[in-house]
Amino acid sequence: MQKKNTNWGAAIDISSFYGRSQELTQLKSWIIEDGCRLVKVLGMAGVGKTTLATKLAKSIQDQFEYVIWRAIQHTSSANDLVTEFVSFLSHQQESKPDINLLIHYLRKSQCLLILDNLETTLDADLMINYRSGYQIYSDLIRAISTTNHNSCLILTSREKPAEIATLERTAFKVRSLNLEGSQEVALHLLQSKQLLGSEEQKQKLCLLYSHNPLQINMVANAIIKLFDGKIDKFLEQNTLLLSNISQLLKQQLHRLSELEWHIMYCIAINQQLTSIDTLAKSIWLTVPKYQLLNAIERLIWRSLIEKQGQGYTQKPVVMEYVVERFKEQILSELINKEFFLFNQHLLLTENSKYCGIENQTPGILQGIADQFCNYCPSRIALKRHIKEIIEEVQTFQNCLCKYGISNFIHLCNYLEFELTTAEQEIFQHCL
Ligand SMILES: Nc1ncnc2c1ncn2[C@@H]1O[C@H](COP(=O)(O)OP(=O)(O)OP(=O)(O)O)[C@@H](O)[C@H]1O
Ligand SMILES: [Mg+2]
Repeated sequence: MQKKNTNWGAAIDISSFYGRSQELTQLKSWIIEDGCRLVKVLGMAGVGKTTLATKLAKSIQDQFEYVIWRAIQHTSSANDLVTEFVSFLSHQQESKPDINLLIHYLRKSQCLLILDNLETTLDADLMINYRSGYQIYSDLIRAISTTNHNSCLILTSREKPAEIATLERTAFKVRSLNLEGSQEVALHLLQSKQLLGSEEQKQKLCLLYSHNPLQINMVANAIIKLFDGKIDKFLEQNTLLLSNISQLLKQQLHRLSELEWHIMYCIAINQQLTSIDTLAKSIWLTVPKYQLLNAIERLIWRSLIEKQGQGYTQKPVVMEYVVERFKEQILSELINKEFFLFNQHLLLTENSKYCGIENQTPGILQGIADQFCNYCPSRIALKRHIKEIIEEVQTFQNCLCKYGISNFIHLCNYLEFELTTAEQEIFQHCL
């Protein structure tokens, strides 16, 4: 039966909840034993933040006099939300967007507030600032974290605002859990879809999607529709990027800055753990080291790269998405004879044999060259296009620089297009 002082708003149904016992124990102990005032569940889209926060809140609700659950939507007004909290906690006696008043009620009774999707309040570029009109969230979080009371705010977010990272260092009762995929949850979800395949294939599928429950649900549905539920048939396709998964990643990556994209491309092209030194050397623009470090930190907060030993890497599905986007951009630059990324990244690195699922996917350079051939209707048209690029380089010598020239020469070699001595001299001249 619904308790009088609970308001679950549009909280999701968690009747088929699996696993996560370790995370639940950790979160409960922070809230109940350590009396944390702010607990954040952070992680990539679809990793299970909302599900876990809801399960957590349901399982500790008896320890609180009031429970209120709200999801922040793009359209929600921050003032309305604070007003709603105040109104609920005061039994409709007050209705003002007043944070001090809210703190008064959080002191008066033990309240549990849950706010889902904090990332929707953040500015796209640096994640430091809140979007205009959303500053009150910052005031709210700061007040709840730093004042004395026995209530708790649980936040979920795909991204970690810089301000919260600072609070974590300074305020004692603030904690965050970086949620990763869960093998237990992923295998349960696959099991419930009744896909056809061996245990080994199921585990492989789960691993390729880093045990992300939403992606596992999406791929399982696609396997049922496209391959009659047969996992091996899907794995044979050698791609992880189903359309709705690409869409999900596009949504999460569209917020990246130019520098962040550069780092994402470097790691994806490198195909192995990439160190900070390698990243620093790869950057053409004069970027101070602190900016590079900040950008790496933001990408970690967004769960888009991860540290392993001394280097950084990406989840397989993220890496495939980034490589595909990179190839599309390079192809478009070759077609339009306007070079940007082509000049910034070496297409043929030591490790550039792009390892797809079964290591059959061609290298990045080969992939681009093949697509370039497909774009040109004939071998003659291809040769004409290459000649036009060379003419362009001759006229505007700065249109291709060091990496661009090396890439272009490798591309010509792969396409078996022999450069004349005069053409080679043009390139020598540009170096
Ligand atoms: N522990 C779990 N047990 C069962 N299903 C789960 C579990 N965790 C996640 N799921 C399923 O995975 C999907 C994604 O989960 P959820 O919405 O919680 O992710 P999220 O991290 O909040 O994503 P977003 O960043 O998009 O808000 C949901 O359909 C949910 O039912
Ligand atoms: Mg969510």
